[in-house]
Amino acid sequence: MKALIITRDSDLHAEIASQGTARVPPISLAASRASLREALDRLMPDNPGVVIIDATDPDIQDSDLLERLAKHYQSSCFMLLTRDHHQDLLIRAMRAGVREVLQLPLVHRAFHEAMDRVAQAVGVTDMRDGKVLAFISCKGGSGATFISTNFGYALATLAEKKVLLIDLHGQFGDATLYVSDQKPAMTLSDVCSQIARIDGPFLDSCLVHVTPGFGILAAADDPTHAVDLKPEHMDTILRVARQHYDYIVLDVGRQIDAISLRALDNADTIHPVLQLALPDIRDARRLLDIFRSLGYPVDQTRLIVNRYEKGGKLRLQDLQNALGADVMHTIPNDYVAATDSVNQGVPVLELSRSSAVARSLADLVELVTARRAPEANKGLFDRLFGRADTDA
Ligand SMILES: Nc1ncnc2c1ncn2[C@@H]1O[C@H](COP(=O)(O)OP(=O)(O)O)[C@@H](O)[C@H]1O
Ligand SMILES: [Mg+2]
Repeated sequence: MKALIITRDSDLHAEIASQGTARVPPISLAASRASLREALDRLMPDNPGVVIIDATDPDIQDSDLLERLAKHYQSSCFMLLTRDHHQDLLIRAMRAGVREVLQLPLVHRAFHEAMDRVAQAVGVTDMRDGKVLAFISCKGGSGATFISTNFGYALATLAEKKVLLIDLHGQFGDATLYVSDQKPAMTLSDVCSQIARIDGPFLDSCLVHVTPGFGILAAADDPTHAVDLKPEHMDTILRVARQHYDYIVLDVGRQIDAISLRALDNADTIHPVLQLALPDIRDARRLLDIFRSLGYPVDQTRLIVNRYEKGGKLRLQDLQNALGADVMHTIPNDYVAATDSVNQGVPVLELSRSSAVARSLADLVELVTARRAPEANKGLFDRLFGRADTDA
């Protein structure tokens, strides 16, 4: 959380800085001002989470200044540090909307308790409302893991979204290996075994961080079933994840079991990944029949055709007719770029930025974040990549 501190007292400044960095998550003193007047003259571009004011500043007597600052940083929490609790000062502080008043010299425990309350108050307004997107492989090798991991990376880097990918494979989950060389220290089973502890920071601490904005929760990898994974755990994890991430991407794999089913129940959209070949289409049909029997709305299921080559015997229209579902996006067959990326464990957008498959993933980001209508022919990413033409 970012803090603005207003004090002339360098010892107090240092004390709060060190107490702030010791917290989890830390409080960083993003800006320091010597007086209320200076704070008003030099406003911060963004609202800090908390504004800490040393009330020994003589400006505090001018209640207008405090009120003006509080009006400007409306979503911030205000904390006042005073040596003496003058009643009239307290009333003015209350009027200005100051939430916490602490006595100086600072009692560290009281400071942290107050900060806990502030973090909670700010956290509530900071809550995200993430979307859950499930990628499911119609046939082994369709490309669900390749697409979900690389799409997650693309969402985080191109659209600057905060993205969490959860590898839901019961066994042999390998999502982290597609985009990272880090070995996961924690997995989905660890989170489930400590489900009572779950909150945003705990969930984040269990991830393999591919970039600051893109983390992967590795697959359970627990063949002895030492931990009881329960469908209710999925509800809890996804509820917390929605509050802290813009997008939660699920690599569901192929198996449908109690856990993946509960995850799919929670998904906003489901993306079956298939190739334009009869075995894939047969399996896709079985999958869509299951979704129908579960009562999932038809428009929630959006097909992704992978390794698509134009001019093949089977046309997209045939596929849509056969399955009764829309193709949301096609990803071209790009053997060299995909294989290099998978073999090196480096996202294809990083390794081969201008490859056909990387550009297609960028298009998918635009579709999902609705930055561009599908029919528009030149979007931000086209300009970024300097592309002359788009795929039909
Ligand atoms: N668009 C593509 N073009 C070429 N090869 C691809 C493409 N997408 C995936 N692949 C290759 O297919 C292989 C299987 O993909 P994967 O994501 O592991 O499938 P799944 O998770 O559905 O079983 C990967 O090793 C990757 O190299
Ligand atoms: Mg896979």
